[in-house]
Amino acid sequence: MPAADGRSEHRDAAPIGVFDSGIGGLTVVRELMRQLPNESIIYFGDTARVPYGPKSPDTVLRYSREIIGFLKGQGVKAVVVACNTATAHALPALQVENDLPIVGVIQPGSRAAARATRSGRVGVIGTQGTINSRAYEKAIASVSPGAKITALPCPLFVPLVEEGWLDTDATRLIAREYLQPMADAEIDTLVLGCTHYPLIKPVIGAVVGRSVRLIDSAEETAAETVAVLRDAGLSHEETDSARYRFIASDAPEQFLRVGQRFLGCTIDRVETVTLG
Ligand code: DGL
Repeated sequence: MPAADGRSEHRDAAPIGVFDSGIGGLTVVRELMRQLPNESIIYFGDTARVPYGPKSPDTVLRYSREIIGFLKGQGVKAVVVACNTATAHALPALQVENDLPIVGVIQPGSRAAARATRSGRVGVIGTQGTINSRAYEKAIASVSPGAKITALPCPLFVPLVEEGWLDTDATRLIAREYLQPMADAEIDTLVLGCTHYPLIKPVIGAVVGRSVRLIDSAEETAAETVAVLRDAGLSHEETDSARYRFIASDAPEQFLRVGQRFLGCTIDRVETVTLG
């Protein structure tokens, strides 16, 4: 029966909306499914407009607003911005403009990095947009003011991962080239500040060395989502009722083919919805 305010009485049963510029955010969905097995999820991948990394902050904010509007129309109870670039450019505005909990990936990843580092020398890698925004630097500095941060864009990692080149000579070569300054900076912790990078964690780990802790913000973001839902009284306790919907803004074939690698399990169906 609808509640007096017109909303369902069972708001906690509503899905969580998750969005990314493409399929990379499925690494966050994978972790949400693990930590929140009772929660339904609607995932929106903006495959028609990926990549966000090289786009201007205004454009990424506009896209993010359109996606949040769509997800709210689907009745989500909370939103996880799984894209680092969208978090960097849009999260503060989205949180002010919307009346539901919105979780980004940068604060959780930064907190984990601050906890992990012993020397205070932290590396951050991400898209050009994320690195230019200095969002990780600010977030890490807010929890660990003395940290010395080396931040570098690694844009070629995104197409390499999309291509499925997770462990090839070319990927190793490019990783060595990109990450040499991290060795020079003697970091002990490296934040993988992009949805795609966890898939080449072994390559990145081999280049920076075993003494460097790699921070994958997906795990931390899911943990933060658990806490946010609990604090808002929105956790769904009923077991075996979780439903998953996957939506892309462009033809779903690539999403189906590559998405399963990010998600770590089979995707049966991808819907197509065009925005903008
Ligand atoms: N999802 C983006 C991020 O995490 C990477 C891909 C893109 O450039 O859109 O920053």
